[in-house]
Amino acid sequence: MITKGQIVRRQQGQNPPGLLPLAPFASATRRAFLTGSLASLLVANAGEILAADEPISRIAFGSCAKQQLPQPIWNTISATQPDVFLFLGDAIYGDWDGKQVFIPTPETLKRDWDRLAAIQEFRNFRASVPIMATWDNHDYGKHDGGAEFTLKEQSKRLFLDFFGEPENSDRRKRPGIYDAKIFGPEGKRVQIILLDTRTFKSPYIKDKRSKEEKAALNIRGQYLPNRDLRATLLGEAQWAWLERELRKPADVRLIASSTQVIADEKAMEEWGNFPLERKRLFDVIAKTGAKGVVLLSGNVHFAEISASDEGPYPIRDFTSSGMTHNNPEYSMLNNTRRVAGPFTKFNFGLVEIDWDARPAPSIALKAIGADGLVAFQEIFSLERLG
Ligand SMILES: [Fe+2]
Repeated sequence: MITKGQIVRRQQGQNPPGLLPLAPFASATRRAFLTGSLASLLVANAGEILAADEPISRIAFGSCAKQQLPQPIWNTISATQPDVFLFLGDAIYGDWDGKQVFIPTPETLKRDWDRLAAIQEFRNFRASVPIMATWDNHDYGKHDGGAEFTLKEQSKRLFLDFFGEPENSDRRKRPGIYDAKIFGPEGKRVQIILLDTRTFKSPYIKDKRSKEEKAALNIRGQYLPNRDLRATLLGEAQWAWLERELRKPADVRLIASSTQVIADEKAMEEWGNFPLERKRLFDVIAKTGAKGVVLLSGNVHFAEISASDEGPYPIRDFTSSGMTHNNPEYSMLNNTRRVAGPFTKFNFGLVEIDWDARPAPSIALKAIGADGLVAFQEIFSLERLG
């Protein structure tokens, strides 16, 4: 059980925008979170509802940060005073040496995690903001890799060690790194669900059409939809776990996936590679009666919001990707579901919940650039999600 004040936001004005966060953080319980002792408490209680007295209302997230490149964006994220930061994959590029792709070893993966740990802006950030993380292909360690990756167990250990996962946690005992936590008191509960889209993933079907054919269709065209009934993205154990999580009471549910869920036309890595799994996600949201779902994703090196009416109510997929590098050309590929963006400069996402809004709480989805300016945003009532 979380005790009073364990999720405490910085006082307004404590950190003028653009300046490094002041240290040390005020609250002893917050320090416990950051040093890992609260993290063990959280994991030990992961099966329960964690009733903190303080509701959380600012959840930042981002993806794709190369450990060889400067990372000043952490200062900008810190200035937005998030309660928690969600790292949605490619926290390191463990299969890229700065010039080319290579096959990592546990030693090179460890070296690259150490490089991230040594970046001063990231050090400052993680000393002041709790981080929850899942992986994408590059921090998993195999380009576009899945269940076949032979180093997945060693990579998992390095990943969880880096993010301070307690030695005896459930997450270490079961295959994969999926995770969920619920923050806040009744009526203001925020459930954060981190999916693992790598450990269980079936092989892709390569699209062998020519570059010219793909360009004419305005797709990247790496992969074709895999409709084999045996093909999976999450795997059965993770699906069963997700269904149990969605049956727990929560007011806002942020379901985070390394790859895009709703945008499915680029033929890059996306849930559209496995259309039956994609449909199953909407079906499980409907079947469990889970209200308040917003999807978060990364991977594509730009930011956008996509919308779908395939679920029981309108569902958004808020994508933020590209903290140290970008690919504006990817933003030009097909996405007929886009409702905001694209923003192609370095960016992170911020989900702001106004619990006091009337007649119902509101949610703002903000894509923010490295300069701290809001590039685009969408604001809607929580009533719309259920
Ligand atoms: Fe990436």
